[in-house]
Amino acid sequence: MKSAIRTLGAFSTLLVPGLAVPLPQAPEPLPATAKPPGPPGASGVLRAGPSLIGYGQPFQAEQTSGSTVVPPYEFGLAPGQSEDPELGLYLDLSNVRNPQPIRGGAKSPTDPGPRNYDYDRLNSDLFAPPATDSGDIPNAKWPFGLSHNRHGLRSAGWARQQNTDQLPVAKAMAGVNMRLEPYAYLELHWHSQGEWSLMLNGSVRLASSNEAGEAFIDDLQAGDVWFFPSGIPHSIQALEAGCEFLLVFDSGSFSEDTTFLVSELFEGNPREVLAKNFRTSTASFSNLPHGQLYIFPGSPPGNITSQNSTGPAGIIPPERSYSYHWSLQEPYRVPGGTVKILDPLSFPIADNFAVALFSIDPGAMREMHWHTTSDEWNYFLAGQARVTVFDVPEASRTFDFQAGDVGYIPVPDAHYVECVSDVPCVYLEVLLADMYNDISVAQWLGLTPRQVVRDTLMLSEDVLDRLPKVKPFIFPGSTNHTRTNYTVDVV
Ligand SMILES: *[C@@H]1O[C@H](CO)[C@@H](O)[C@H](O)[C@H]1NC(C)=O
Ligand SMILES: *[C@@H]1O[C@H](CO)[C@@H](O)[C@H](O)[C@H]1NC(C)=O
Ligand SMILES: *[C@@H]1O[C@H](CO)[C@@H](O)[C@H](O)[C@H]1NC(C)=O
Ligand SMILES: *[C@@H]1O[C@H](CO)[C@@H](O)[C@H](O)[C@H]1NC(C)=O
Ligand SMILES: *[C@@H]1O[C@H](CO)[C@@H](O)[C@H](O)[C@H]1NC(C)=O
Repeated sequence: MKSAIRTLGAFSTLLVPGLAVPLPQAPEPLPATAKPPGPPGASGVLRAGPSLIGYGQPFQAEQTSGSTVVPPYEFGLAPGQSEDPELGLYLDLSNVRNPQPIRGGAKSPTDPGPRNYDYDRLNSDLFAPPATDSGDIPNAKWPFGLSHNRHGLRSAGWARQQNTDQLPVAKAMAGVNMRLEPYAYLELHWHSQGEWSLMLNGSVRLASSNEAGEAFIDDLQAGDVWFFPSGIPHSIQALEAGCEFLLVFDSGSFSEDTTFLVSELFEGNPREVLAKNFRTSTASFSNLPHGQLYIFPGSPPGNITSQNSTGPAGIIPPERSYSYHWSLQEPYRVPGGTVKILDPLSFPIADNFAVALFSIDPGAMREMHWHTTSDEWNYFLAGQARVTVFDVPEASRTFDFQAGDVGYIPVPDAHYVECVSDVPCVYLEVLLADMYNDISVAQWLGLTPRQVVRDTLMLSEDVLDRLPKVKPFIFPGSTNHTRTNYTVDVV
């Protein structure tokens, strides 16, 4: 029909009812293998056409290229790489030449490539998993280094986020890592989620007020925490050293783009309304910013006393303060590291954030445990660690984490955090709970009738003797990654 119309040209409108305009002359289609018009100097074949479809070309595949086997003299092995794969020793591939995904052998399997050596070295437990890993576990790791960095105005800072777009398993919490240069602002704003924050570096001034007209102002330093409940507006300005901080939101779909910014509030309302609301004329608003400011440079603030703007309702009383000077807390010390807990028992306003900051000594391990009511969101501040997530039915997978990474462990999956670096591993466990809680596997078995444990796991009497009745939190270890006997703790 189409070709008939084409040959009829202008007369086609007479023959096809309803066709008002004549059809343009369509060019004959190019044969699939024809050379399309290309830039000067283009050569070669863009498409080879159907003649290469399988079965058509008698040839012997193995003669077309050399061996893909990477011979042993072309690669190195990490200590422990040839040991029994069930031991699942940590493989430090960081200085290994041309690392290969070998577990429990010396020669294979190899990876001839294509590949990215840096990812393989950073994730040896994905590249050469312990034989005890099995089944499917959703990805539990997101490096902020793979997040898009949104820059502020005039080099004032940046922010990058992790939400369910980056880490689909992280349904209950999302994170933001933000930098403010000296005196820069994160624009006045509020949001629909609660915002829990840990100061990572530098210092910051916060100001806010609540529904009752009570005011809040405070300065925070690295290690301190703030929390702004849903809908509470706030001001954030870096002090003279600048700052970097971490934000955690109680919704996995949180996005920085859903922040309610004061510039957009003003831009999105009639000027007459602004004039009436602020008891002035519309001329007062001729210099409003166009578009959002978000992160932008600021001027040095006065001292905190001079900036303290309090109304008749006074200040937000300390028991409902939005800040907590966590940096001033001495941690709880146990063999193998330290832990500090910040939950509503100490910081009531953050009534659904229960957080632990662990520092695990090199080679030591946050013991095997799980949480009863909440998923766990992690942020690694220092060191390198590995974590095996155990879920049902019959699934476990081991992930490697470095400083700057986010981790996520759904409730009630069991896990540990083993510090595999030469420096302490510092990381955050964030739970949405009114009290920090965990079930220690060792303590659970220590509090179970001995004969039940013996009959179930076939453990010897001396192992049963050593099961703890108190919560260890951390167990000491060794920086020797091939050690397998911890009968006597080695630090
Ligand atoms: C804070 O920033 C300074 C300057 O870059 C850096 O030397 C220091 O290590 C940072 N502190 C932490 C805790 O990362
Ligand atoms: C704070 O600033 C105000 C006004 O600039 C000044 O009068 C006051 O002395 C300052 N206070 C301190 C403790 O520096
Ligand atoms: C701000 O002023 C109030 C009294 O109006 C006072 O109670 C509060 O301590 C002051 N805050 C700071 C940080 O100076
Ligand atoms: C590490 O531990 C293994 C097993 O106990 C031992 O054979 C090896 O000598 C140790 N390596 C070092 C460097 O201490
Ligand atoms: C583990 O170490 C303990 C203490 O040094 C020792 O008594 C025990 O024999 C060792 N076990 C094995 C299986 O080597």
